[in-house]
This record gives sequence, structure tokens and C-alpha cells, in this order.
Amino acid sequence: MLLPYSLIRPIFFSLDAETVHDFTLKTLKLTQNTLWSRLLLSQPLVHDPLSLMGLQFPNRVGLAAGMDKNASAIDAFAAMGFGHVEVGTVTPLPQVGNPKPRVFRLQEANALINRLGFNNKGLDVFLENVQKARFKNHLSYNHIPMVLGLNIGKNALTPIENATQDYLQALESVYPHADYVTVNISSPNTKNLRTLQSDEALDALMGALAEKRERLRSRIGKRVPLLIKIAPDLDHAQINLLANTFKKHCPTDHSAKQGDWGIICSNTTLSRNGVEGLASSKESGGLSGAPLFNSSNAVLAQLRQAIGEHFPILGVGGIMTAQDAKIKIENGADMVQIYSGLIYKGPKLVHEISSTLKELGS
Ligand SMILES: Cc1cc2nc3c(=O)[nH]c(=O)nc-3n(C[C@H](O)[C@H](O)[C@H](O)COP(=O)(O)O)c2cc1C
Repeated sequence: MLLPYSLIRPIFFSLDAETVHDFTLKTLKLTQNTLWSRLLLSQPLVHDPLSLMGLQFPNRVGLAAGMDKNASAIDAFAAMGFGHVEVGTVTPLPQVGNPKPRVFRLQEANALINRLGFNNKGLDVFLENVQKARFKNHLSYNHIPMVLGLNIGKNALTPIENATQDYLQALESVYPHADYVTVNISSPNTKNLRTLQSDEALDALMGALAEKRERLRSRIGKRVPLLIKIAPDLDHAQINLLANTFKKHCPTDHSAKQGDWGIICSNTTLSRNGVEGLASSKESGGLSGAPLFNSSNAVLAQLRQAIGEHFPILGVGGIMTAQDAKIKIENGADMVQIYSGLIYKGPKLVHEISSTLKELGS
């Protein structure tokens, strides 16, 4: 049974966005794996298996990073029927992020603006929480387990020239515990982070990550795909450069579908298209939700064209309905992720999307 989100939402939306978020995460953490969670949140996992990057995903909808930065409620999100859950962004050291208030709802537009700035408890707490997760023990017969993605970033105080060190340190720590690792180089709320998307910087970062992964792979005996998360604020030329950098580091022929690399497209946008004049629209930070849909789709479609049909791409940005998820797939995504849609529509959206994509097949 599912708690009707339409009843809770007005209460949530009458309170400060970050306060509600923190309260919800605490409640999910406390109640996960209990009868409460089963009665109030639980939804059947739609069985629509897909093999990508050598991983078996039970269905094509995932939780986008940032909802559960400290990995404290993985089992609660698993119970909602996600095929994969991505937790983080975690930075090597704990950090408080930007001053509050730093999350704003733009209700008329089904949107959010945030400038959290990677507030998180750091790698040690994150990994303790990841290791406590029990979702893999709760499998029904014949079901593929949910896939767990761990999203890593750099500390605000680390100079951008030394960012690679933070990513390598985080990769080494999370590697044994991850099904896949996402390298977040596209948050607009960490100074200069997005400069890592330039062809030279990305080339160097991917080279360093690939080398580290090879060493970890032979030491730990496990293969972990790496995904690079990109911004939607890229022009045509930048998208082509980015695609060329990927082509340099990874195969893009049919073997790429089960290869070691992928892209998540996209993070939040700096643009304010579609929210002009709304309360809070002038707040600085990244805009997510419905107004991001078209621009993130445009980048996705261009990227898909530039990089070819076989390269794994996860589509995220502005999915508020099952129909939106279908359009994301049509624009070139292999799978989708949601964040703002979950805030505005509630957990039912997970089931709606996964069952619609299953019906669609392909
Ligand atoms: C409050 C908030 C915090 C976020 N934090 C992160 C984060 O820590 N790491 C990350 O990679 N993306 C983060 N994101 C971006 C989301 O993962 C997603 O890429 C973006 O919101 C677009 O999807 P949506 O329109 O479905 O929300 C955050 C988004 C929001 C709204």
C-alpha cells in the first residue's frame, strides 16, 4: 500500500524545502526495513531487465544523485521500486556547504533551485551507511537486485588544480562498495567545477581515473563502470569536443554498451528560461525540474548523435511524467533518473515510469 502523496505534499510544501528534506531523510532512515516502510512506501519492483555497462538493471528508472547525499536511506528508496539508486555526491572530507537558505521551490513551474554546495558528512560516514544497506537481501524469487551507484565530488577547499587527487581518493574508497561510480564534474555550486568538462581537463581526468581503476580492478578483482555527469549548459561545439574526448578513451562501437564508461546527462542548469518572473527565480544556483526538460533533452540528443548509438547514456532532467521518460528515451537515453519529479509527484512516479517503459519495450 502506498501513502497518498497528494495528502502529504501540501504539508511538506508549507514548510522550508531543506527542513522537509532533512526530516524526510531522517524518517526514511529510521523506518527503512520496517513494517512502516513496507506499508507506507513499498511498491513492487517492475521487472524490465536491461543490461548496460556489464551491469544487470532490473528496470530503467533510477534515483538521481543529491537526494540521499550521505547514503542513509538506500533501503527506503529501494523499496519504492527504483531499478537503480545513486547516492552522494560525497566528498573526501565532510563539509557544510553554502549558507542557508539554499533550496527553493518554484511551485508554479514544478521546479527547484538549489545551491547546497555538496553539503555532506564525508567518505567515512558515507561508506559506513552504504555497508549497512540490506536491499540485496530482500530479493523476491527471480528478481535482479537494484543497482547501486556512488557519486563522488571534490571538496570546496581543494583548489581546482588538485581536483584529480580528490576524485582518485574518493574512487579508491568507494570502489569496493559500488556497482558503478559517477564522477560529478557539473555541479554549478562548487567554484570552477564545470571547467573540468573542457576537453583538456576531461582528457587528463579520464586518463587518471582509468589508470586508477585498472589498479583497483586487479587488486580487488571487481570491475566497476565509471560515469561522467555533465551539465546541460553546453553549446554544440562543447558537446562535440566532449564526445571526441570520450571517443579517445573508450570504444564507441557496439562493445561500448557493455563497456567501462557512461555519461549522465544532465545536472541542473544555470539558465532561468521558463521561470522568469517567478518568486525565487533570481536565487543563484542550479535549476531543476520541468523547465530543465527541453534543454537537457537538446544536449542529450546532440550528444547521442555525436557519440553514436552504442555509448551508454543515462538521461535526467525535468522528468515529471511517464511520458517525459519516454521522450527522454526517444532522445537517446538508455535509462532515466529522477529527482525533482519525486518531490513534486511522489513515489508513485517511480512505478508509473518503470511500468510505462516496460510496456514500450525496446
Ligand atoms: C536539491 C538538489 C540537490 C542535488 N544534489 C546533487 C548532487 O549532490 N550531485 C549530483 O550529481 N547531482 C545533484 N543534483 C542534480 C540531480 O541529480 C539532477 O541531475 C537534476 O536535479 C536534474 O534532474 P531533475 O530535473 O529530475 O531534478 C541535485 C539536485 C537537486 C534539486
